Amino acid sequence: MENTTTTTTLNPSHTTLLIFFFYILLCSSLFISTLAKSTIYNVVDFGAIPDGITDSTMAFLSAWNIACGSTKPVGIHVPKGHFLIGNATTFRGKCNNKAISITIHGTLVAPYDYRVIGDAGYWLTFDHVSGVAIHGGVLDGQGSSLWDCKNSNTKVNCPIGATSLAFNNSDDIVITGLKSVNSQLFHIIVIGSHNVKVHGVKLIAPGNSPNTDGIHIQFSSHVTILKPRIHTGDDCISIGPGTNNLWIEDVACGPGHGISIGSLGWYLNEPGVKNVTVRRATFSETQNGFRIKSWGRASNGFVNDIHFEHALMTHVQNPIVIDQNYCPFLNGCPSQASGIKISDVTYKDISGTSATQVAVKFDCSSRQPCKKIRLENVKLSYKNQNPRASCIHAGGTALGAVQPESCL
Ligand SMILES: *[C@@H]1O[C@H](CO)[C@@H](O)[C@H](O)[C@H]1NC(C)=O
Ligand SMILES: *[C@@H]1O[C@H](CO)[C@@H](O)[C@H](O)[C@H]1NC(C)=O
Ligand SMILES: *[C@@H]1O[C@H](CO)[C@@H](O)[C@H](O)[C@H]1NC(C)=O
Repeated sequence: MENTTTTTTLNPSHTTLLIFFFYILLCSSLFISTLAKSTIYNVVDFGAIPDGITDSTMAFLSAWNIACGSTKPVGIHVPKGHFLIGNATTFRGKCNNKAISITIHGTLVAPYDYRVIGDAGYWLTFDHVSGVAIHGGVLDGQGSSLWDCKNSNTKVNCPIGATSLAFNNSDDIVITGLKSVNSQLFHIIVIGSHNVKVHGVKLIAPGNSPNTDGIHIQFSSHVTILKPRIHTGDDCISIGPGTNNLWIEDVACGPGHGISIGSLGWYLNEPGVKNVTVRRATFSETQNGFRIKSWGRASNGFVNDIHFEHALMTHVQNPIVIDQNYCPFLNGCPSQASGIKISDVTYKDISGTSATQVAVKFDCSSRQPCKKIRLENVKLSYKNQNPRASCIHAGGTALGAVQPESCL
């Protein structure tokens, strides 16, 4: 007892130490909270108005310019509400810091009249930035009247439209929990960029909306796409020339045109596509599952080291397809052979239902036959009939149970 009392009684030197300790704690927490406050910019403080009608473009650009000019990490906060970004807008680097985090609780809305941004090609672009993260938020591209125009008989006067979000020549990018609805053109484009993580995005447009690809990657490396939910009118994910070290996991795709490498080989000199993995994907009522597509034209490009693994197809028109004779409207390529070299492509553990009898189709180039195609544990069915596989200029191997019977 005696002992306890003496230990709980502080002697003067202990007290000084303790006070000093709390003083330090107080100072540092004050310091941290001022730091946190001073480095988060709210777009409303720059004049953005969450009424969906007032153009907030200048306010967003002002917040960006301050953030980009800062030498310390910064946050940009977009609160709840609808913010009209009424014109094609580029958030430009290079910035003085490599840590700008944009947190969006509200919705950014494109102009209702598609002609305003329809010829710009892009709505929101980040160009030459590094270390930018976007968390949450909804982008509403208001594309429906443009699709009506494109789907009508007088489509000659329709502009191409604008992609909702693009990262151009950028590095170390994170996009999490973003939702994009009704893009005029593509939902997201990543071009000339490296080390990009796209996590948990939802990309939604009607199945009959033209050219609304979910995510398009081109001239980019080390892009990782995890858990995207894509319901759109064109490719769920499309992979263009110059893509390497791409990792895609846990995809839900449909409606849409599936996951496509291509179209490749329009240009004679074109960088290839290398080391792409798609692991765990579901395709529901899509036009394609896994597709590789090249123009029937001379090209030095290639497709190499591709892994399509663990997929479930539900009523997919072309579950597995390579088409090297792509030449819509016989424009610029009639009766030419594709120069794209396709090799080392693995399809492993793919099951489900095909909506057409030819469930596996390898239509390769007479000039550059497909090499080292591997089918491993593929089980696709077609109604109550035998599904078929079709091979033209395609070589490779089949492992395990493969249905339809391999033609490699
Ligand atoms: C939209 O941006 C274009 C190109 O920067 C510019 O010419 C046009 O005046 C802008 N329109 C509006 C309404 O601000
Ligand atoms: C993207 O980068 C290319 C090449 O640097 C440039 O020509 C183009 O204007 C950029 N696009 C946008 C929207 O900033
Ligand atoms: C292929 O890409 C993945 C990332 O998607 C990377 O981890 C791996 O090292 C790459 N493989 C080669 C051989 O470069």
